[in-house]
Amino acid sequence: MTLDFTSILPSLPFILKGILVTLQIVLLAGVIGFILGIILSLFKISSIKVLGVIADIYTSIFRGTPLVLQLMIIYFGSPQIFGYQIEPVTAAVAAFALNSAAYISEIIRAGIQAVDKGQSEAAMALGVPYRPMMLNIILPQAMKNILPALMNEFITLTKESAIVTTIGVMDIMRRAYIIGADKFRFIEPLLLAGLIYYIMVITLTFLGKLVERRMKRSD
Ligand code: ARG
Repeated sequence: MTLDFTSILPSLPFILKGILVTLQIVLLAGVIGFILGIILSLFKISSIKVLGVIADIYTSIFRGTPLVLQLMIIYFGSPQIFGYQIEPVTAAVAAFALNSAAYISEIIRAGIQAVDKGQSEAAMALGVPYRPMMLNIILPQAMKNILPALMNEFITLTKESAIVTTIGVMDIMRRAYIIGADKFRFIEPLLLAGLIYYIMVITLTFLGKLVERRMKRSD
């Protein structure tokens, strides 16, 4: 295998521009997915049964079908679903946010339910009302279970974002592919794309460790 990175050097800025596109999708979808995920997890632990059922069905559908399929249904189906053709980036953010919400709701639900029952029993025995009990006693402990899994979800989101190339979004992956087709050399731009994704994931991992260490200190 001979590698010749000099031939793709002029295309470097073109590929690097994809970082912004990828980051934009991941950040937006991450934030929206997180908010939706919190709402769904509240449904799941709620005493109102029907809310739990709705959230469970939602999770089952979005976790039970491939993300790339959801992306394509939202993008190519948008004229039928919404009445007009949405932008590829919008479709990407929507698909990733909706998909991630399903996973995040499970992460939060499991994190909350993993807190020892004695904690809420003790709070109730002391007459602490539900809201302060949740906010000051249960959630701070649940955060420790939730955070590492949440970080994992954001890493998955970053890597899976590469499938937006299938609907024409000019992300890192698609730009690398375009340069490959242009120069008749795929391996160098693809290796470069791999390096960029890897650096993004390493950065996320580092940030996650930082927050975790911070929380340990507050113990
Ligand atoms: N490739 C998997 C799928 O298509 C990934 C789903 C996304 N995973 C996630 N944690 N959001 O179903």
